[in-house]
Amino acid sequence: MYEEYPAEYWDLYAVIPSENYEIGAARNKYAAPRKTAEMAMRYFDKIHPVLDIGAGTGLAGEILASKGYVVDGVDFSKGMLLQARHKGYRRLFCEDIRNPNISNAKTIYKSFISTGVYGDYIKINELEKMCAFLDEDGIVALSGRAVNLNSLIKTFKGLGLEILEDECDLGHIDATFGDWVKYRYVIGARRKRILFEDYSNLNNTVPL
Ligand SMILES: C[S@@+](CC[C@H](N)C(=O)[O-])C[C@H]1O[C@@H](n2cnc3c(N)ncnc32)[C@H](O)[C@@H]1O
Repeated sequence: MYEEYPAEYWDLYAVIPSENYEIGAARNKYAAPRKTAEMAMRYFDKIHPVLDIGAGTGLAGEILASKGYVVDGVDFSKGMLLQARHKGYRRLFCEDIRNPNISNAKTIYKSFISTGVYGDYIKINELEKMCAFLDEDGIVALSGRAVNLNSLIKTFKGLGLEILEDECDLGHIDATFGDWVKYRYVIGARRKRILFEDYSNLNNTVPL
């Protein structure tokens, strides 16, 4: 189910006593950040920084940072980011990812992770905005409960992302009905394109 909320909603959710985001996440056995991070670690290198998009309180970034990855995070909720401060991020940007400005950081990332954001709280095609900061051979690990496969395929194709893995699994327990909620977990990769012209310019004589 797709729902859009303003940053103020998340600011409050981050800190409501006895019912804050992380308490709710633990109670509902929110597994998506861990599962997405585990999937991502099969592809991400530790040399280049990772960007956690819609980082929230840092549940996914914390796992990557604990395994030796350099992680930056971006989220438009200051309240959520205040909770993420002690999770091992290198930098945290407070920005709306539908209109990002992290170009100020002059960083092009090789890898993105995003859990519970696209498809759920922002339309999947908004990923295009952040992909301006993804390298030409970059990798994206994305998960969400409301990620629609057709929209995902269309968006990934438009961004030059080839789907390497696409899994559906359980993400968390629905607080109202008590059922497990199905999540989609995807890895998409950009490949450097070698144009035919590049081959034709090669000197194909072999010195003897
Ligand atoms: C369900 S939480 C997921 C947080 C974290 N990724 C996790 O899995 O725990 C959704 C997050 O997306 C952020 N978010 C939603 N819309 C956003 C937007 N337009 N720009 C930046 N962050 C946004 C919210 O502030 C919130 O932290």
